[in-house]
Amino acid sequence: MRILSGSRPTGHLHIGNYVGALQNWVKLQNEGHETCFFVADWHVLTTAYDKTEELAALSKELVKIFVAVGLDPDKSILFVQSGVKEHAELCLIFSMITSVPRLERVPTHKEMKEQLQGATDINTSGFLLYPVLQAADILMYLADGVPVGEDQLSHVELTREIARRFNYIYGCELFPEPQSLLSKFPKLLGSDGRKMSKSYGNIILIDNNEKHLTEQILPMITDPARKRKTDPGNPEICPVWDYHKAFGVTEEQKEMITDGCVGAKIGCIECKRILIRNMVTIFEPIWDKIRLIDQSPGYIDQIIFDGNDKARRIAQATMEKVRSAVNLLF
Ligand code: TRP
Ligand code: SF4
Repeated sequence: MRILSGSRPTGHLHIGNYVGALQNWVKLQNEGHETCFFVADWHVLTTAYDKTEELAALSKELVKIFVAVGLDPDKSILFVQSGVKEHAELCLIFSMITSVPRLERVPTHKEMKEQLQGATDINTSGFLLYPVLQAADILMYLADGVPVGEDQLSHVELTREIARRFNYIYGCELFPEPQSLLSKFPKLLGSDGRKMSKSYGNIILIDNNEKHLTEQILPMITDPARKRKTDPGNPEICPVWDYHKAFGVTEEQKEMITDGCVGAKIGCIECKRILIRNMVTIFEPIWDKIRLIDQSPGYIDQIIFDGNDKARRIAQATMEKVRSAVNLLF
C-alpha cells in the first residue's frame, strides 16, 4: 500500500497526537508500506494567514518530532508541503472540477467556521478550498491509504469524489480512490478531564521531561468516587485508566490496578506513579532523540531537503500525467 498523511505545524504536538496518529504512522512505516508523511504548512494559512511569524520554525520543529518518534527518513518520505509547489498546481486543477456548494457542505467547514467566529475572518476562498488542497496532497502521491482521525473522514471522502470525477471527465484511470485508515485509539482527555486542547491549557506535550510529566499526571482527575484510598473505585470511568491502556500497561499491572482500585487497596497516587513510570519508558528515548537532534544543527534541514526532493520527483511524474490528461500545452 502507498500511505500518506500530514499534520499542521501548529506547534503543540501532544501525547494524544502521539497515541492517535504518530504511533500509528510509525507502525505503518515499519510494516513495510510505502509511506509519505508531511508538514501541511500551507494548510495553516487557510485559517491563520495573519499569524505566520513562527511558521517556518514550527515546520522544522514538526519534522524533528516526526523523526524523534521513529519516522525514519530512510523508510518514509518526510517532506514539507511548501517545498513541493506541485501541490498548488494540482489544487488549482481540482478546484476547477469541485462544486462550491459541495465544499460548503463539508462538515468541518461549518464546524470550523462556527469555532473561529470572530477570531479571524475566514470568509476566504482558501478556507473554502482547504479540503481540495488536502485532496491534492493525497492524490499527488496516488496514495491508497490515509491514516486520519474521525474528524478527517469527510475530507478523504471528498478526495475519492474528486479522484472519480477527474478520471471520468478526462477519461483516464489516473487516480486511485484512497481509503481512510482510522486510528483505533480513543482520544485521551486532558489532565482536567476535558478534551485535550491548547486553548484549555491542559495538553501534555510530546517534547517534555520526567519532572514536568509527573507534575501534569499527579493532579489528574480520577474516578470522583475515590476521595481517599479506602473508597472503592471503577477504572472504566477514570481518565487515568485510558492513559494506562495507551501507555504500555502490562497484564500484571492491569490486574493489580483493577483489583486494587475496585477493592480500595491501591491509592490513586500509587496508580499514577505506575503510569508515570510506563510513560517515561516510552517517552525517554523520544526525549533523548529530541535533545540529540537539537545538538546537530543542519540535521533536520538536510532531512527536509532530501525528503522534498523525493516527494517532488513523484509529484512531477503525477503532474506530467495530469497535464497530459487535461490537454494542457505545458
Ligand atoms: N487536514 C489535516 C489536519 O488538519 C492535515 C492534512 C493536510 C492531511 N493534508 C493532508 C492529512 C493529507 C492527511 C492527508 O489534520
Ligand atoms: Fe483511576 Fe487508578 Fe485511582 Fe482507580 S486507582 S480511580 S484507575 S487513578
